[in-house]
Amino acid sequence: MKVLIVGGGGREHALAWKFRRDDPSIELIAAPGNPGIATLGRCEAVGASDVAGLLALAKSESVGLTVVGPEAPLDAGIVDAFRAERLPIFGPTCAAARIETSKTWAKDLMKRAGVPTAAAQTFSDPAAARAEARRLGAPVVIKATGLAAGKGVVVAVSLNDADDAIAMMLEQRAFGDAGREVLVEEFMTGEELSIFALTDGTHAMPMIAAQDHKRIGEGDTGLNTGGMGAYAPVSIATSAVGGAVMDTVFEPTLAAMRKSGSPFTGLLYAGIMLTPQGPKVVEFNCRFGDPETEAILPLLDSSLLAPIRAIAEGESIASAAPYSWRAGAAVTTVVAAEGYPQSARAGDAITLPALPPNVTVFHSGTKRDAAGTLLTAGGRVLAVTAVAKSLAEAQRASAAYAESVSFEGRQFRRDIGWRDLAQNRA
Ligand SMILES: Nc1ncnc2c1ncn2[C@@H]1O[C@H](COP(=O)(O)OP(=O)(O)O)[C@@H](O)[C@H]1O
Ligand SMILES: [Mg+2]
Repeated sequence: MKVLIVGGGGREHALAWKFRRDDPSIELIAAPGNPGIATLGRCEAVGASDVAGLLALAKSESVGLTVVGPEAPLDAGIVDAFRAERLPIFGPTCAAARIETSKTWAKDLMKRAGVPTAAAQTFSDPAAARAEARRLGAPVVIKATGLAAGKGVVVAVSLNDADDAIAMMLEQRAFGDAGREVLVEEFMTGEELSIFALTDGTHAMPMIAAQDHKRIGEGDTGLNTGGMGAYAPVSIATSAVGGAVMDTVFEPTLAAMRKSGSPFTGLLYAGIMLTPQGPKVVEFNCRFGDPETEAILPLLDSSLLAPIRAIAEGESIASAAPYSWRAGAAVTTVVAAEGYPQSARAGDAITLPALPPNVTVFHSGTKRDAAGTLLTAGGRVLAVTAVAKSLAEAQRASAAYAESVSFEGRQFRRDIGWRDLAQNRA
């Protein structure tokens, strides 16, 4: 069977790596892929958001399964287009992807379904938004409703900051139409978890939790990034927390999606905050997270391809075999380019030393020049995952390999997993 992976980052490399392990007989195609994925399959120069081009590729190659990595093609309706041609594809329709692509729509759905989340109201009028921020008091959270490449949320520590964020989004239109409406949201405290669940629209198969590290600096300081690392499992994600998230988040959300006429199939990502009142939803994403995927998949012993294929073919996963997880922990350290996240130096030669047996390198932003030299080509360049018996050991091995990678100006955090280690929870 031919499997087409849409995308070309570390997440897609990890999916390709896992699929190849699950079934060595598959033929992998990636669009556009990257030099890491090219060691596992064939890369085709079709953009990840080029729905017509991807459809043509899938047809001409007689692809049996298409798996979509990023949110942009889902928002552009790739699943609707493939389903109309009866091509099996894993992911939500454009309408179901609204759970990520419209924070207003997602918040309304959660309200209707009684899913625990921060109270929020939507505004297009700046004066009304400012008044609501005053009613809630600082800190308060201002969110652009649409896709803003991870930059559309401001946690305002003062009302001044809230006013600036409202002006930036609603008046200066910093995010274009994605900031046509803003949510003014109650501030929550607690630690965050990413919980992924495969779903056929009715049944959810949640995976072990991971924790992302969004800030550029050690100890979670400095600017926000796309994610500087992740680890799994997370000790505060106990089975009681997992049960509560299943009962109060996944099940009611999937039921509300079915009721809305847009059942969600694919990978539902719940961003959870463990507040003193219990788990609450920060946001949903409609696809695998990056870099959490690179930490979670190396711990998954059972097949990922089998349930994904069943879901793409419209089958129920009610009686699918449960996942089996390796003992131990995984730490993914992102090696980023100089200047990231404000800018990213590119075009520097990368040297990758031989891999220790417990380390895997996923390519996020790399390319090869005409001579075959591996070069940096993005803010996040590599995701280095180490699997070990303990979190401390996984952190050491991951950081040690990241240290041994060389390219001009590389930067990475040595402390991925620090919350668990500092509190001696692991
Ligand atoms: N209500 C809230 N209270 C506290 N922090 C929040 C709240 N909403 C979002 N955040 C913080 O902002 C980050 C980004 O918000 P999120 O809703 O996940 O948007 P996106 O990932 O689309 O940028 C979260 O990971 C969290 O750290
Ligand atoms: Mg988020």
